[in-house]
Amino acid sequence: MKAITVEPKKPGSARYEDFPEPEENEGSVLVEAVAVGVCGTDVEIVAGKYGWAPPGKTRLVLGHESLGRVIDPGPRSSLKPGDLVVGIVRRPDPVPCPNCAVGEWDMCTNGQYTERGIKEIHGFMSQRWRSEPEYLIKVDPSLGILGVLLEPMTVITKALEQVYLAGQRSFWEPRTALVTGAGPIGLLAALRLRANNLEVHVLDRADTGPKPDLVHALGGTYHTGSALDLDFDPDIIVECTGVGSVIGDSIQKVGSGGIICLTGIGAGGVGAGAVADVAAAVVLKNNLIVGSVNANKRHWYRAGQNLARSDREWLSRLITRREKPENFQQALVRQPNDVKTIIQFSEV
Ligand code: BGC
Repeated sequence: MKAITVEPKKPGSARYEDFPEPEENEGSVLVEAVAVGVCGTDVEIVAGKYGWAPPGKTRLVLGHESLGRVIDPGPRSSLKPGDLVVGIVRRPDPVPCPNCAVGEWDMCTNGQYTERGIKEIHGFMSQRWRSEPEYLIKVDPSLGILGVLLEPMTVITKALEQVYLAGQRSFWEPRTALVTGAGPIGLLAALRLRANNLEVHVLDRADTGPKPDLVHALGGTYHTGSALDLDFDPDIIVECTGVGSVIGDSIQKVGSGGIICLTGIGAGGVGAGAVADVAAAVVLKNNLIVGSVNANKRHWYRAGQNLARSDREWLSRLITRREKPENFQQALVRQPNDVKTIIQFSEV
């Protein structure tokens, strides 16, 4: 079969190549790939900045935002051939740490977790892949290709769970939310915050392309420029850019008692000069800054429900580009009007 593989930490090593069929010890369910979403983490891995091959191997099959069709359900699953499924990304660490021991692998404390297509387990960008049934989520068949949005939905399902749990520390009635970054994660955050009846504002650099309309279609308000110029102080900020200046502005702008959830992964060090000012604002306004990564089975289950209930026409507008596997390099280069690019392996 063919797969998109990379030698982690080696820039320019990605290729679409012949690759051995998945081994039976990779799981009892055999799946045919339908599509795989591309995200910033994939771009980082291909650029040689992130990623780990399976132990004893040099190459890693890329891809963690899957959608596939069951070919062989194997002896111990209730799945049927033809079912649409998505593979869970993370596996608990082998020790296990207390969080992994109770199934909250997204909160792994010793860093020894593994992740498909990212850290030590092959991903989903291969014509066929295998999984254990307990790491597969069956998607509503009426979602079709939109099932490929399940993984990003899990990330935001967990992030918002964290925000609402954190809000219970005091009397809290959030009314306004700001989402920074109108990529797939930011737009899914806006969708879910609107579903929670919040007044939603989304801030992004782009002032053209599909993003403003996607936000307006939700009943949200779209902004460009700095969060500091907004004429309200948000109760919730979901930060989806990972850009230092956007994070700094968000921390200054959040309302009293407000919560900022960081989901973007950026770089650039700690500006020591500004940290005390930022901390003072956080102290004086009782703010909470919570980081959120990955998702556990509870979030996958809820995200599946959330996706199935969402407006299909709106969701379909998030998928702005489909590439063939042999053109994966183009899929990795962001174009101005891209929201979510997917690599399509077969028809749904
Ligand atoms: C994935 C997460 C993963 C994180 C860190 C993200 O792109 O969606 O599942 O935990 O990268 O590796």
